[in-house]
Amino acid sequence: MNLALERLHSALQTLQLGEADALVENYLERAAQQEVTYADFLCPLLEAEVEARRTRVLSTRMRMAGFPTVKTLGQFDFAFQPSIEERQIKELATLRFVTDHSNVILLGPPGVGKTHLATGLAVAAIEGGHSAYFVTAHDLVSDLGKAAREGKLEPRLRFYLKSKVLVIDEVGYLPLDSLGATIFFQLISARYERGSILLTSNKSYADWGQIFGETTIATAILDRLLHHSTTINIRGESYRLKERKKAGLLAPPLPPTEATKKS
Ligand SMILES: Nc1ncnc2c1ncn2[C@@H]1O[C@H](COP(=O)(O)OP(=O)(O)O)[C@@H](O)[C@H]1O
Ligand SMILES: [Mg+2]
Repeated sequence: MNLALERLHSALQTLQLGEADALVENYLERAAQQEVTYADFLCPLLEAEVEARRTRVLSTRMRMAGFPTVKTLGQFDFAFQPSIEERQIKELATLRFVTDHSNVILLGPPGVGKTHLATGLAVAAIEGGHSAYFVTAHDLVSDLGKAAREGKLEPRLRFYLKSKVLVIDEVGYLPLDSLGATIFFQLISARYERGSILLTSNKSYADWGQIFGETTIATAILDRLLHHSTTINIRGESYRLKERKKAGLLAPPLPPTEATKKS
């Protein structure tokens, strides 16, 4: 290898331009063969570096987000769930809600796509350059409860303030004790007007008193959560049930479930 090339590799490595370092000899050769201008040589080389970094940041953020399963908005079949306005989801996918620090609440019975849509919006946020973190309400409250018992609530709360989008999945499946409710309220207050929350629940707002043990705290939580927010009420059939029906594991017609009776 000639000296200039050695120095070039060394400089690219020092600058941590790994992708450019890997590509530069190929690009030099091509530039010599095709007699491209200096700018036409340099620009794609640096663009390849930018793209590699973007991909690296994206995959780190996806890993850090802790999604149980990665789901995208593109995988969502809107025709199956007509109670959801595709236009509304498209509007949310512009990510204005993230920059506005406003919240999205997805309500509905099991299997209708709440977690899928919340994950899909969080994935869209990551692709749009934001950070996201996924946690179930149960894990969130037990984690913060443990931190509180150890006298470390403040720093742990700060962890849940870090990402631009916080998905809190399955609020209401399990009722919270009074410490749990207080901690949940503290988190919602701390993120209020500072970072978006994507929340899913199988309980309508009227039933939130049951989740938090009393209506006062439920009202205080809803007050902050809903001030800047979009609520998406999903009615309709469980997608899981449809898939089982299709597989012939369930013989239609089905008796109405609690969930379908309500909607
Ligand atoms: N309209 C839909 N199009 C494609 N997949 C769907 C749709 N609704 C639900 N699913 C899938 O069905 C399963 C259950 O959806 P999920 O979002 O977990 O429901 P929920 O959180 O409302 O209980 C998931 O695998 C999800 O990807
Ligand atoms: Mg779910």
